[in-house]
Amino acid sequence: MNNFKTNIAKRIRLVLFFALGANAVSSQTAMINILSRNATSLNGNWNVILDPLGGGEWRQVWLEKKPTLKTDFFEYSFEGGPQLKVPGDFNSQMPELTYLEGTVWYKKEFRYTVTAGKRLFVHFGAVNYLADVYLNGEKIGVHEGGFTPFQFEITTNVKEGANSLIVKVDNKRLKNGLPGIGYDWFNYGGITRDVHLVETGATYIEDYHIQLRKGSSKEVLGWIKLNGEGKQQRIKVRIPELGLKYSTKSDNSGVAKLNFSSAFKLWSPDSPKLYKVVVECETDTIEDEIGFRNIEVKGSKIVLNGKPIFIKAVNIHEENPYKRARAISQDDAVLLLDQAKELGCNLVRLAHYPHNEYMVKQAEKMGLMVWSELPVYQHIEFADSVVPLKLETMLKEMVRRDRNRCAVVVWSLSNETYTGTPKRTEELISLTEKCKALDSTRLITHVINDQGYKNNTFSVWDTLYRYSDIIALNEYIGWYIPWQGSPTETKWETAFPDKPVFISEFGGEALYGSKHGPTDEAASWTEEYQEKIYTDQIKMFKNIPNLSGVCPWLLFDYRSIGRMHPLQNGYNRKGLISEKGEKKKAWHVMQKYFNSLNNK
Ligand code: GCU
Repeated sequence: MNNFKTNIAKRIRLVLFFALGANAVSSQTAMINILSRNATSLNGNWNVILDPLGGGEWRQVWLEKKPTLKTDFFEYSFEGGPQLKVPGDFNSQMPELTYLEGTVWYKKEFRYTVTAGKRLFVHFGAVNYLADVYLNGEKIGVHEGGFTPFQFEITTNVKEGANSLIVKVDNKRLKNGLPGIGYDWFNYGGITRDVHLVETGATYIEDYHIQLRKGSSKEVLGWIKLNGEGKQQRIKVRIPELGLKYSTKSDNSGVAKLNFSSAFKLWSPDSPKLYKVVVECETDTIEDEIGFRNIEVKGSKIVLNGKPIFIKAVNIHEENPYKRARAISQDDAVLLLDQAKELGCNLVRLAHYPHNEYMVKQAEKMGLMVWSELPVYQHIEFADSVVPLKLETMLKEMVRRDRNRCAVVVWSLSNETYTGTPKRTEELISLTEKCKALDSTRLITHVINDQGYKNNTFSVWDTLYRYSDIIALNEYIGWYIPWQGSPTETKWETAFPDKPVFISEFGGEALYGSKHGPTDEAASWTEEYQEKIYTDQIKMFKNIPNLSGVCPWLLFDYRSIGRMHPLQNGYNRKGLISEKGEKKKAWHVMQKYFNSLNNK
């Protein structure tokens, strides 16, 4: 048995070695809630070397060699070259980089005063897609995955005074990446989220879970995890507004279980109440804003805080339409979420990858529930030997970052994967089980679009739904699939009659202002055609058993280079709003529909 375990461990290490590259240390478990820590921002201008051909590797640019003899020279330098802003995607910052899917080397200098007993970490909110990180000429680690945070401890690498941090960023698509090669959004590369240096004591609070026990409106069931020496410590959790003071102790692995009750005012879209929560151990203190709510499926209903709720949602990509760039800030979050509110939404599906923390926290403040999704999109190479580990790592990173965000009510583990893809169903079942083990308090789902539609009857059959709390499905009747009869007579058959149904995508394309032309021809790209899809869909919704929510695809027109028609011009035009902020006719249909549901 032990031999068996050792062999498995060896195989995992080997897989990691090849997945991450020789000489590399994979990133460490990232601490949560960076902004409540002793953190110094490394945002701002970084010097860069553009390397579309990948020559920086053999030139070893991270060594920053400088000529010593008058006859020496090196054909690179970070000094005197271009600069890029961090956070930010590189594609939108220089015209030469618009379509780059390749390497850019980033460099930032920082000064540090070494203090005995302190630990130092460099923390990245996200880098799309591969990051190789060097400090003072030494490789400190690598990370794969464009949408989740990671960190490296640099306590023993950092120098007194000036330090040089270099990051090789590569956003080339990988066949065995997550997502894989093909996806319908813009592949913004770069250091797209905030970078911080975080100083801690010898032992710090790495992570905690402070949320209601499933099914309860007053009992918190959670834990706290310490990192460092001296893990057995006195732990306190305080919620001053409720006069709550809870004390416990961590065990010698640094984990303390939490279990306390209080008369919480529950968080909901109508009343997005958050409490200041203080988490303390003997060597660290963290503050958070936490809300308490309960989300469940009861029979065929989605139930929030004990009451059935109809989900009025909209899909959003992490893109600032006006800047034609990755959304990166609080202002960007407000811009996107204000529009979701105006449409009448109570949930935003943050498609198709975990969005930045500004989005999630802002949604929470505004009373918008959040659907968070892994970039497990369409054709993933589930049978590739490195993919299961990538899936699990990304899942852990997504759940860890947002497990205390009560707004997050759904973990969506995949979108439009196909039953015919080898190992797809077994890998996704296994991922579902891992997600449940990490967090049993939220709904877990998979989004599927390979349903049947014959004789004006829509049928839902994919067995993966057995492992989903909700039947989330994308259907484009009226756009990719023509209507086979009257929408009011469309029938629905489901192999899972007991589960709530959520239409996670529907819609069609229209160019704003393109109102003239035949309204019954898709190829005319008219707003009227799109409007008709929406009015027909709304008629059909009445026939869907257990319908628990709908989510148009999507809020704004967004960049997608595979969209090649001149009227698309590199945009997916299924937005209810154009990239310039103009509301299309379908927007009004949808807003009216959501408003009509208000008192039901
Ligand atoms: C899919 C997919 C979206 C995509 C949309 C479309 O269903 O999930 O990411 O962009 O279809 O075709 O516009």
